Amino acid sequence: MRKTLLVANWKMNLNVSQASLLLHRLQERTRIHRSIEVVLAPTMLALQPLSLQIDRRKFRLAAQNAYYKDEGAFTGEVSFSMLRDLVHYSLVGHSERRAHFHEDLPMVRDKVQAAVRNGIVPILCVGETHQERKEGFTKRVLHDQLTTALANLTAREVAEIVIAYEPVWAIGVGDPAKPAQIQEAISYVRYQVAHLYGEKVAREVRILYGASVEPEFVAGILSLDGVDGLLVGGASLNPYKFADIIEAAHRLQVSIGDES
Ligand code: 13P
Repeated sequence: MRKTLLVANWKMNLNVSQASLLLHRLQERTRIHRSIEVVLAPTMLALQPLSLQIDRRKFRLAAQNAYYKDEGAFTGEVSFSMLRDLVHYSLVGHSERRAHFHEDLPMVRDKVQAAVRNGIVPILCVGETHQERKEGFTKRVLHDQLTTALANLTAREVAEIVIAYEPVWAIGVGDPAKPAQIQEAISYVRYQVAHLYGEKVAREVRILYGASVEPEFVAGILSLDGVDGLLVGGASLNPYKFADIIEAAHRLQVSIGDES
């Protein structure tokens, strides 16, 4: 049974004291559910202080990005090796990084590999733009993003990573992709993993949906076949909403008798 994974991507929001306050409020409002794993991805600067404040029974930390070289003359960058003992996870290849910081397919591949090499679980973000969907290229885009990003991993390593399907056109608009669209894309991602690394790996890899997730959409999305969790942006900045998202995921598990 794949554990439900809920990831809060705070993006470039909240300074260290604001991030600390949000963590405090979340810790007050959330209960521990053994069958749900909750991960917070604050700004890089807040990782160290939050690591001292965090209730590890409730939350784990993730980086939003890091550089693929372990050290050297790369002014301004932070490496995965520097994050080793600080985070369990790191987002890799978020569409905002691909769009604004020109992260291309080989760079994303190298970052995925660097994360794994340093014992950090990459949350590989994939997804098509509006234009790509309109032109009928959704599967081709997912195919290219997946095959390149996973190219340097062994099957065993792929089984342990997380893939997040984030349709770029649905991010930050308040309206998630339709259930059928989510289902189709996530089934395709799993099919591609099976094709490349075998059925066993495809059964084990966790696949999330992200884009405009709000509490009221949680049950509908998480009950889709093969959706193992959510990557939440805007709603994760609000402690009431993010706590509601966690509770909604828990209620769904209880209702289908999946709680362990
Ligand atoms: P929103 O939830 O704000 O649409 O952001 C999604 C996202 O990009 C998470 O990584």
